[in-house]
Amino acid sequence: MSALWALLALGCLWLGSAVDLQPQLASMTFVTNNPTLTTVALEKPLCMFDSSAALVGTYEVYLYVLAESPSFRNASVQDRTGVPLSSTFRQTEGGRTAPYKAAAFALQPCSDLPSLDAAGDASQASEILNTYLVRVGANGTCLSDPNFQGLCNPPLSAATEYRFKYVLVNMSTGLVQDQTLWSDPIRTNRLTRYSAIDMWPGRRSGGMIVITSVLGSLPFFLLLGFAGTIFLSFVDTGSPDGGTVHDSQVTQEAVPKSLGASEPSDASVNRGPPLDRAKVYSSKLQD
Ligand SMILES: *[C@@H]1O[C@H](CO)[C@@H](O)[C@H](O)[C@H]1NC(C)=O
Ligand SMILES: *[C@@H]1O[C@H](CO)[C@@H](O)[C@H](O)[C@H]1NC(C)=O
Ligand SMILES: *[C@@H]1O[C@H](CO)[C@@H](O)[C@H](O)[C@H]1NC(C)=O
Repeated sequence: MSALWALLALGCLWLGSAVDLQPQLASMTFVTNNPTLTTVALEKPLCMFDSSAALVGTYEVYLYVLAESPSFRNASVQDRTGVPLSSTFRQTEGGRTAPYKAAAFALQPCSDLPSLDAAGDASQASEILNTYLVRVGANGTCLSDPNFQGLCNPPLSAATEYRFKYVLVNMSTGLVQDQTLWSDPIRTNRLTRYSAIDMWPGRRSGGMIVITSVLGSLPFFLLLGFAGTIFLSFVDTGSPDGGTVHDSQVTQEAVPKSLGASEPSDASVNRGPPLDRAKVYSSKLQD
């Protein structure tokens, strides 16, 4: 963890002016499953805007989201006077017609960041991750209220490319003070065809599971049939009367030739009750 911390501090020195920086996907060290079907975790713009000098006053960072489209390569997130846009997810059709504001948070001063060493402590981990990361698409509560006007950060669409931008707002003027570039397109995950069955060990598909279970029960039925045949053959042997053998041959001859031309005995087996079937087999055994 301390090596990571050093790397992050080094990153702070590197970053320099905010203008030519882009929002970045959260490091794999923090979030393993990212992006998901509906969320994208990003690193917060720490030490970006206040890297050269500490900012005086109150600042907030706004996060804007835009669904990727060639016509919005350089979409603006402020009006002509420099006031940041307050367009919502709903107004922009989830970022498809214009950027929407998905999150706002206070700017944590670069000199005052919590140590990542404490992230191993379960009680502090979530708070520390919230300091470093923001998750787009994490809160769908605003969708249930059609008249909701506030900040709305509902789930993103699967298999869709999005771009992100951070904006620094001077809260005493309410104007945009600085901003990052739009990020490179980041694609949410795609729903895979078998993802519902992926939890099964060995990732077997539905068809494979059916075949496996049929094959698994087949030997059982064969064994059952064989055991029954042997049992009945003992019963027949015990009887001195040979009439049963004759009966089954009569049944066999009564079957029309067209049905049982190749396998006449099978045809009679299929038509007769289960006991007759056993008798046919037993007669063959006796022969
Ligand atoms: C993008 O917009 C910014 C400010 O709105 C402008 O300075 C820059 O030249 C634009 N870039 C392109 C490629 O249009
Ligand atoms: C989700 O959004 C609603 C409305 O914006 C807010 O009141 C609530 O605190 C948010 N929940 C979380 C867990 O952030
Ligand atoms: C933010 O706005 C206040 C009030 O207008 C101003 O005094 C301050 O210099 C601004 N911050 C920066 C970094 O320009």
